[in-house]
Amino acid sequence: MAYAAFRSIGAYAPSKILTNEELSAMVDTSDDWITKRTGIKERRIAAKDETTSDMGVKAALKALERSGIEKSEIDMVICATISPDYFCMPSTAAIIATKLGIKNATAFDISAACTGFVYILSIAKAFIESGMKRNILIIGAEKLSAITDYTDRGTCILFGDGAGAAVISATEDKDEAIIDVHTGADGEYADLLMTPNGGSGSAHDALEGEAAGCFMQMKGNETFKVAVRTLTKDVVDILATNNIASSEIKHFVPHQANYRIIKAVGDALELKEEQVVLTVHKYGNTSGASIPMAINEIYENGKLLKGELMLLDAFGGGLTWGSALVPFSPLK
Ligand code: COA
Repeated sequence: MAYAAFRSIGAYAPSKILTNEELSAMVDTSDDWITKRTGIKERRIAAKDETTSDMGVKAALKALERSGIEKSEIDMVICATISPDYFCMPSTAAIIATKLGIKNATAFDISAACTGFVYILSIAKAFIESGMKRNILIIGAEKLSAITDYTDRGTCILFGDGAGAAVISATEDKDEAIIDVHTGADGEYADLLMTPNGGSGSAHDALEGEAAGCFMQMKGNETFKVAVRTLTKDVVDILATNNIASSEIKHFVPHQANYRIIKAVGDALELKEEQVVLTVHKYGNTSGASIPMAINEIYENGKLLKGELMLLDAFGGGLTWGSALVPFSPLK
């Protein structure tokens, strides 16, 4: 049987930094408030002409180069994004594949908001284990600045832009294999976090001037509570199912939404500070890109070594949630 191995990671963050001080000049907020409530100090903002696929390509090039797998061997490209180059079509994954020179691969996007990367990991695992594909490029890429309302202090302080990518490939060695991925969704909570305009469910004509704006709206406080509850249950479940103790986790890589949420989940699992990966202070919430950007951070700092076990945990609009137990299994 083929198993799916997590071979490599790459990420890209735009160079423009938007600080809390700069946001304080745009809306009624302060560095102190944002830092205390979220842990975020700054976030990255893509250039006006820089697209989600442009960022995805930069992250993917690094992941490919580090994977030891040729572009010509990639047989599937999946992109998790809620800020695609174009709403509806073509998919950002197809654009990324073409920009990379990957030909004849299956390519598609999925919409699972901040849980997107865990979702595409589960899809990659399933395709590889079924024998249908062998080498899959997965990308989480977001230009959230394009769907953020910079007059709404409840949301604009949270989000940023960036991309992360990984190569998942087939192995016969069970020790290299992704152990488990859990995913779920509940549309009952759809109104906690949504882009209400622009789609067929919109009260407005999708093509009607200002109404076509697809800005995110969020019930922050309710989202916070559901996030802590769901994320904690999620990781407790996946560890119990696989009979793994939280002390065996080398790197807990949670979705980087809010330091207080991460701390609450980490404490519930009795994780030590050095087990918890944090990037929220420098990138804010980059939705589908946040987990791979965080994994890239520990990789580039020399802290992610072959065989080390990562626990991923995410939560996002939908609502969606997911967790994964992933050993790092580079080929080189
Ligand atoms: N600066 C200053 N004050 C702000 C503010 C800001 N940026 N945003 C909201 N406030 C105010 C509110 O208006 C409210 O004022 P009031 O008491 O006079 O009515 C007060 O702060 C408290 O608002 P509340 O929404 O209860 O704050 P909070 O402690 O829940 O923090 C969030 C707000 C958004 C930081 C927090 O709820 C959060 O992080 N939620 C989760 C969001 C998330 O992770 N979303 C993505 C999921 S993937």
